Amino acid sequence: MPINSERTINLKFDENLKAAVLTAITAAQEYGVKIFLIGGAVRDLILENPVKDIDITVEGNAADFANFLRDKYHCKIKSVQENLLTAKVQFESGAVIDFASTREEKYEKPGFLPEAFNFGCPLADDVKRRDFTINTLAIHLEDEKNLQLIDYCGGYNDILNKKIRILHNNSFVDDPSRIIRALKFKQRFNFEIEENTFNLMQKYLSGVNFQMPLERIKGELRQYFSLKNDNLYSLIINSKAYALISDNPIMNFNENLINELCKFDLFNADEIWFIYIAALIVNSDFAFERLNMTSFEKKVILEVRELLKKNKPDNTDDYEIYNIFNDLQDLSIAIYYAITENHAVKKFLTCLKEIKVLISGKDLIELGFIPSPYFNELFDLILREKLNGNLKTKEEEINYVKQYIKKEEQS
Ligand code: CTP
Repeated sequence: MPINSERTINLKFDENLKAAVLTAITAAQEYGVKIFLIGGAVRDLILENPVKDIDITVEGNAADFANFLRDKYHCKIKSVQENLLTAKVQFESGAVIDFASTREEKYEKPGFLPEAFNFGCPLADDVKRRDFTINTLAIHLEDEKNLQLIDYCGGYNDILNKKIRILHNNSFVDDPSRIIRALKFKQRFNFEIEENTFNLMQKYLSGVNFQMPLERIKGELRQYFSLKNDNLYSLIINSKAYALISDNPIMNFNENLINELCKFDLFNADEIWFIYIAALIVNSDFAFERLNMTSFEKKVILEVRELLKKNKPDNTDDYEIYNIFNDLQDLSIAIYYAITENHAVKKFLTCLKEIKVLISGKDLIELGFIPSPYFNELFDLILREKLNGNLKTKEEEINYVKQYIKKEEQS
């Protein structure tokens, strides 16, 4: 086993997680199985970044080991994935750990999910299925006082040299979502994509396999665009990674406007990713059909498309601006602004959005009117007055209607 003896690792976890790992170490010894901390958690420990979630891989059957933890160490099994022999286990301390059986994978159909085989294989075979060297590092959880790094693929040096490197030349063909993952790690850790990896990425992007499902790519884009970094969109454009989902992205999207838009309370922080996605796909039928969007996401994209078609000049009058935007989803308005920087949107958000006609049909009936399409004409008149800065209260609206009718009757 290639142990990187230069480096022993401290488990800098919060107390509850640490207690859970120590229990797992004791249980593994008693059960007679090798277990390893693996993947992102090891990478983050080396980088001295906080670790929240950890994965432990079991050189054996993780589902059986989870049963042992339940029976002997008062753990709860939260879920089991039978086909992959993985288990999510909650320890007495409350911490939850994902356990996976070591396995190999092969991609029968490029871009589709791989087939898993050889469960319980040696760790050296398990790491070969992973994406980047920085994610192949493991720590043998055996002797808590001497936790050594196991490095089969040179991941430790790549972390020191800040390099993102795939393990084999077919990696992006097998799983193109790794292209977005590479950009995610680049942004998150300020790493560089190693030259051969970058060239293979470009080669793939010049001939994307359009048969593949886009779920994983969408999931990775969601994580990517939820990062807090600058230049998220421009990296997707400049690296040509957009080609995975769109044949016609907005090229000159001013992503700095998203910060400005946050002030207007138009969307939740967990929706920001969709503003970027929208700029990638709004002009692409190809993406619209294939991205497996929710009905809300589709509605937003269609609304933005309509707005782009109308493409009103900045000097549109207030009444028209109000009617263009008033019935639309806030997220659609935000996206349209981010794409066009059209000042009519800013006017709507800062001056017009809060304006609402206060009287209802019921009020008009109480004034003696019989329900008819005329109601809408009256509401519209009141709206125009309000947009001109008149009629602040409901009483003022009612008086306005009374006087208007009087005038109508006199003429
Ligand atoms: N993995 C992969 N290919 C993918 C997704 C994941 O090879 N398309 C592997 C990586 O080795 C990764 C592990 O599965 O380390 C777990 O995946 P995930 O939890 O998504 O990644 P982490 O590395 O833990 O990253 P994060 O810090 O974003 O959770």
